[in-house]
Amino acid sequence: VSHLQQVLGGPDQVRDLTSPASGTAYLDGRGGVVVLLTGLSGSGKSTLARALRDRLVEDEGRTVSLLDGDVVRRHLSAGLGFSPEDRETNVRRIGWVAAEIARHGGTAIASPIAPFDGTRRAVRGMVEGRGGRFVLVHVATPLEECERRDRKGLYARARAGEIPDFTGISSPYETPTDATLTLDTTDREVDELVDQILAAIAPADDHP
Ligand code: PPS
Repeated sequence: VSHLQQVLGGPDQVRDLTSPASGTAYLDGRGGVVVLLTGLSGSGKSTLARALRDRLVEDEGRTVSLLDGDVVRRHLSAGLGFSPEDRETNVRRIGWVAAEIARHGGTAIASPIAPFDGTRRAVRGMVEGRGGRFVLVHVATPLEECERRDRKGLYARARAGEIPDFTGISSPYETPTDATLTLDTTDREVDELVDQILAAIAPADDHP
């Protein structure tokens, strides 16, 4: 009996959150969905994630949990840095939460850099293992464009050697080979890109 079970009053009252697909709840008969937007810093992940959330809420009346990279790091992953180990921990935590949301029929949108193929595949496994659908969107805006935008001034600092392990400069980004959709946000309208993501999210039986 775990500590949590002792606190909450015994095994009967606590669902085992670690067992695959136990007690899966499908609100609409389809189960939940996790959209993971992966890409370099400044590639447009957060902008797309928020716009996608707004469209799902406004047009389809869904409730959506947004797990934004920066916000997660202030809360769920406070204290973690950017070593490969810490990135792995961060993205696995996001995946765990997202998989739980999907297991209960919900929709989760996450937008971490998630630079490592193995970690992304582990997240896919967590989501699909609990009955959710996993949609990987590679926001493949080229490094040159992300660096040109440099909205937070981080690329300049990374080039100056002030930020170690900066993705794309001094830390790797492994290009996904299993993305459902690959987008380049250079000179593109957000609405148009969100339309593409919505089409990719639609379950296979909704396609004509
Ligand atoms: S990861 O790799 O998935 O754990 O990264 P993530 O949690 O998405 O955090 C990325 C944001 O942190 C800021 N930042 C850095 N990014 C990359 N490398 C280094 N060293 C770094 N240090 C700070 C940066 O603002 C990222 O925000 P986004 O929204 O991606 O631009």
